[in-house]
Amino acid sequence: MDKKKFDSKNKYIEVKAHGKLMLLGEHAVVYGYPCLVSAVNKYLTVTVDFADNKEERIVTPGISDQSFIKETVKIFRNRFNKKEPFTIETKSEIGGYGLGSSAAAVVATMKALIQLYKIKINEKSLFDLCYKVILNIQGIGSGYDVASAIYGGTIYYAQKGKIIEPLDVCGIPLVIAYSGVKADTVAQINLVKEKMKNYKEGVTKIFENIAKLVDEAKKVIIAKDWVRLGTLMNYNQDYLEDLGISTEKLNSMILAARKSGAYGAKLSGAGGGDCMIALVSEEKKSGVEQAIKTAGGQSIDIKIKN
Ligand code: MEV
Repeated sequence: MDKKKFDSKNKYIEVKAHGKLMLLGEHAVVYGYPCLVSAVNKYLTVTVDFADNKEERIVTPGISDQSFIKETVKIFRNRFNKKEPFTIETKSEIGGYGLGSSAAAVVATMKALIQLYKIKINEKSLFDLCYKVILNIQGIGSGYDVASAIYGGTIYYAQKGKIIEPLDVCGIPLVIAYSGVKADTVAQINLVKEKMKNYKEGVTKIFENIAKLVDEAKKVIIAKDWVRLGTLMNYNQDYLEDLGISTEKLNSMILAARKSGAYGAKLSGAGGGDCMIALVSEEKKSGVEQAIKTAGGQSIDIKIKN
C-alpha cells in the first residue's frame, strides 16, 4: 500500500467491516422470511483517499472481482454528486469462505467514501445504498450480509431490511469449518428459485417452517438454551437438504459433528460448499473439531463477535 504518501498528507480514511456467519434462515430470507446472523471477529479493511494524479486506482489483493467496489464508487458518486477520482485499497482477513467479504467490501468502501467527504448519514440510509450495490451486481440477495456488516453483533433480519433487530446475545459456542469448496451464491439462489417455480406450494411451506424455527431460535439464543438451539439448527439443516442445497461433503462434516457430541450442526450460507457450523460445549469442542477434520473439513479460527 502507498502508505507513506497517505501518511504525509495525513488525511486518508481507513474503515473496517467485519465478516458474518449465517446462524439460521438462509435462502428463506431471500423471500422476506427472517434469519439470524452474527458478525465474526475477522475484518475487511478499506483505505481511501483522493487520487493525486487524477487517475483512479483500486488495489484489492486477494479479491479478484472488483465489481462490488467499482459499483459502490458509482452509487456513491451518483448519490452525492461527487466527481473526484480515488485511490482505494483493501486488505482482507475474511478470505473466500462465504463469510461475507463482498458485503464487507461494499460497506467499508461506502463508509470510507462518506467519511472522506465528512457526509452525515444514518445507518438505515447507509444500508439502503449498500444493498443497492449488491442488487445491481448480483441481481438478487436478501441484504442480510450488508446489515450484518453495518450493525454488527447478532441480528434478527427480515423483509429485505425492513426489520433489523439487534439482539442481546453473547458467547454463542460455535465451531466453524470450511468444506474446501467455494460456493457460488447466485447459482445457489437460482437453484432454489427454480424449485420455487416448479413447486411453489412445497417450497413456500419449507420457508414458513424455517421462519418458525428462526423465531424460536431468536428466543432460545437470548436464553442461552444451547440444547434447544442445536436441535433447531438440525431441523433447519433438514429443510436445507430438502431444498437440495447441501452437499455430500457438508452432510458428512455435519454428521461427524453431531455424532461426536455437538448440540447441533448445519451448513451456513448459500450451501453448495463454503462453511458449516456446529454448536458445541467446551468439553466436546476438540472432539468435534477432530471429527470434522476426519470428515475432510478445515477448521477455521473465527469467533462470533459480540
Ligand atoms: C447466502 O449467504 C445466504 C442466502 O440466503 C443469500 C442471501 O440471503 O442473500 C442464500
